[in-house]
Amino acid sequence: MKIHDTHYHSIWLSSDQKTVHVFDQRLFPHEIKIVDITNSEDAYVAIKEMIVRGAPLIGVTAAFGMYLATLEATDKRNVKTFLLERAERLKSSRPTAVNLMWAVDRVLSELDFYTELKNIQQQALASAEKIKLEDIEICSKIGDYGLQLIEEIAQKKEGETVNILTHCNAGWLATIDWGTATAPIYKAHDKGIDIHVWVDETRPRNQGANLTAFELGQHGVKHTLITDNAGGHLMQHGLVDMVIVGTDRTTRTGDVANKIGTYLKALAANDNNVPFYVALPSSTIDWTIENGVKEIPIELRSENEVKYVQGKSKNNKIEQVLICPESTPAANYGFDVTPARLVTKLITERGICDASEKGLQSLFPEKF
Ligand code: MRU
Repeated sequence: MKIHDTHYHSIWLSSDQKTVHVFDQRLFPHEIKIVDITNSEDAYVAIKEMIVRGAPLIGVTAAFGMYLATLEATDKRNVKTFLLERAERLKSSRPTAVNLMWAVDRVLSELDFYTELKNIQQQALASAEKIKLEDIEICSKIGDYGLQLIEEIAQKKEGETVNILTHCNAGWLATIDWGTATAPIYKAHDKGIDIHVWVDETRPRNQGANLTAFELGQHGVKHTLITDNAGGHLMQHGLVDMVIVGTDRTTRTGDVANKIGTYLKALAANDNNVPFYVALPSSTIDWTIENGVKEIPIELRSENEVKYVQGKSKNNKIEQVLICPESTPAANYGFDVTPARLVTKLITERGICDASEKGLQSLFPEKF
């Protein structure tokens, strides 16, 4: 996708194949800074400190982290033990997005530990690159399927603007390209459908304000930033035609964990008969669990993210300001779970299905 009319992916490898480049997503939209990841510990830190974030991108970063780990293994007596240790370290960087565990396990499963290290390095690189390219393809397909839903609404509205609400950033910055929730939006825009996006600011880290608004603006998609609490009001007044969000982990029964506040949007959508769609690559489905509320680990983050807000000051500096008494205790739950009953449909790379075991089974029979 585009930044100042130049096409970028959210992650890429240097030409000497020794450094992984990513954007420091903590600084958008005020500063565009590229960060170098040169070893597997850098990859761990990039995920943990949210230099990169968004479930699919976290997965791809970890996959490249595993490749970098193979480059570090030259002086290791037991390469397999070393790589398994690095894998556990990477997997521990964030708890909720299952793409992280999925990507690390996939790279490991594609390595032949009985061959020489050079081959292992090549296999890890091929695996990480494949996961990256597949993600682009998958998001594009999600976009094609989601586009059909937007087209249906546009037809019903006879060309009137289609208003879409989204939460957090499930855009190209959260993936490699296209995004998940944003892929149908970009495809609809490119097709000339009149769309407008309500962008939830998404406290505490403001991924909506900082990232989604930036992306949509760069692509020329009409959008309006709203406070996290505005969605219900807009829905009551017929100003939202559909909600599309992403997810960090989805159960085999269709429960969906996404950025904190998603559940409240789903409740409001349900109360107002607004369709609530969740766009996801199948790498986000945790096929081993059934009850999202009970079984999905919810990240608990630093209270400072709630107590301080980051932005650009009048002096053009990125600064953090305290918004409560210094001593106020704060709780920072990163995600919540939207039960399947509140999800109208899931949009996947294989098509659109009910958010239920039966629905997912119809698209992914091999998993059941
Ligand atoms: O904490 P973050 O910024 O990593 O959370 C990201 C989200 O919740 C996204 O909506 C989700 O990962 C889907 S991204 C395609």
